[in-house]
Amino acid sequence: MSSRKRRPVIAGNWKMNMTPSATKEFIAQLYENVKGKRGCDIVVCVPAIDIPAVAKACQGKSIKVGAQNVHFEKSGAFTGEISADMLVDAGVKYVVVGHSERRQYFGETDETVNKRTRAAIAAGLTAIVCVGEVLAEREADITEEVVSRQVKLALADVTAEEMKQVIIAYEPVWAIGTGKTATAEQAEEVCALIRGVIAKKYGKQVAREVIIQYGGSMNAKNAAELLAMENIDGGLIGGASLKAVDFSVIVDAAQ
Ligand code: 13P
Repeated sequence: MSSRKRRPVIAGNWKMNMTPSATKEFIAQLYENVKGKRGCDIVVCVPAIDIPAVAKACQGKSIKVGAQNVHFEKSGAFTGEISADMLVDAGVKYVVVGHSERRQYFGETDETVNKRTRAAIAAGLTAIVCVGEVLAEREADITEEVVSRQVKLALADVTAEEMKQVIIAYEPVWAIGTGKTATAEQAEEVCALIRGVIAKKYGKQVAREVIIQYGGSMNAKNAAELLAMENIDGGLIGGASLKAVDFSVIVDAAQ
């Protein structure tokens, strides 16, 4: 399973950062740094309110727009929520689903992660489905069980054909925002495990093609080593995606 067969996806997750008015200059700066680098797909997953400004700023550029969450119903009385169709209409191509911060602070469950994943796919979006163990789970040596379970439940009722619209992001929770990156070997081990889970469910071909990202304190210094691993096809980057230069160094590492 050579990673050369898969085109890396480098995605920034801005989380709750950057006002709409700050986005124009940031995207212009980022584009200056990444233009012409065609070896990977580049995505910025931005706060919902930033989407129109970012979509406008990214027009005609090689940077694609992502959202950070999506509701699973098509429309209706769900105050404060945003549907997949709304995202598509606003120019969004990717959406992060089941980020650990949403699982931790906003009651996201494996069931709602699955519903959101399916709603995103149905609308034509690519879902970046986040999985990962917390520190206590790693220390209890149950990372494999936890991550396999999350992957399987997130992908319930998702077909092999639909897997073209799914990216799995392995984000060990203990590595997020802590400066503690998983070693390349630790990250590779779990990404390989995820590919195995997908192979078992969908067969070798789907497993060979699915993009599996690593996320968790990925930065300009450690990206190359992580991205060199056979089963790591990209990154989901938080803090370092807010610095145009650092993010572009990660893009370089994926070329
Ligand atoms: P950091 O890169 O800030 O650790 O965040 C990772 C992350 O959660 C991306 O979704």
